[in-house]
Amino acid sequence: MVLNQLEELASKASEELGKVSDSKELEAWRVRFLGRKSNLTQILRSLASLPLEERRAVGARANEIKLTLETSLEEKKRELEEGSVVSLGMVSLDVTLPGKPFNLGRLHLTTQVLEEVCGILGGMGFQVAEGPDVEWDYYNFEALNMPADHPARDMFATLWIDYEKESGIRPMLLRTHTSPVQIRVMEKSRPPIRIIAPGRVYRYEATDATHEWMFHQVEGLAVDKNITMADLKGTLFEFARCLFGKDRKCRFRCDYFPFVEPGVEVAIDCFECGGTGCRLCGNSGWIEILGAGMVHPDVLRRVNIDPDVYSGFAFGIGVERIPLLRYGIDDIRLFYANDLRFLSQF
Ligand code: DAH
Repeated sequence: MVLNQLEELASKASEELGKVSDSKELEAWRVRFLGRKSNLTQILRSLASLPLEERRAVGARANEIKLTLETSLEEKKRELEEGSVVSLGMVSLDVTLPGKPFNLGRLHLTTQVLEEVCGILGGMGFQVAEGPDVEWDYYNFEALNMPADHPARDMFATLWIDYEKESGIRPMLLRTHTSPVQIRVMEKSRPPIRIIAPGRVYRYEATDATHEWMFHQVEGLAVDKNITMADLKGTLFEFARCLFGKDRKCRFRCDYFPFVEPGVEVAIDCFECGGTGCRLCGNSGWIEILGAGMVHPDVLRRVNIDPDVYSGFAFGIGVERIPLLRYGIDDIRLFYANDLRFLSQF
């Protein structure tokens, strides 16, 4: 009689365990079949009141069932902890397996800095202008006071495009700087002009830690009545402070670029050592950040802007140089090697 009850209980318990799918249900199952008030516990407690023969048989079987249920409970617990195996038709899916990472895209470091630079200058009222990467010799050199055979062309190792031979028209090249955009803008518009021209530039260069054959520049140009060197200074000082910190000092020194007169090289005091000298600034205390100057009268004349009425300033910034300095990156080739281990740090 009691034995029958036990068998029924055992099969009911294992049937119910099969339906358990989470730890909450499992606990309910434990209370129901193994708890203090469960039938099994009651039977075990009442053994003493049974006649000796029956007591032995029932006791043995009840303990056996208790052990089986306890083992099944442990197994089920482990199964639930280790991983819920969800069956979807034919495929079983282990939802606890690590997922495939879904990589979020990000802007390239160069793009981030370009946006920052254009944001600062845009805030001062400069508008973005663009020019082609494949450029005529005229815009890249001639109109910028570098006629054929001018020695200043040696400053720009040029990637020529063999266009002249085939067409007999004009020599073409990959622009070596963004300065040709100055000419294109001045040809098409009249002062007041305030533009910046961000973009790629190319040099026929053997690459090493400090040289790439392709990099970026941002050109600036302002032409109006009464534009002076003081305007250039004010603009670039403010720009340097926005970019490298408000306590930066700036230094202007004479430099030569054929398309400006006077030409200057602009440096900031080293933000690493504060000007006392360190590795970053090559112990000079100063870091050169860009070239600039007052637009050469001949350049204005060539685009039919009267230099007796108008004057202007121009500047050109190397974009990659900014994060190179800021983050202490020691190899420019990292920028375009497309290694995400490098790029995803920014
Ligand atoms: N185009 C020059 C270069 O690539 C940089 C430069 C210098 C731009 C002076 C300017 C400037 O507009 O005024 O090295």
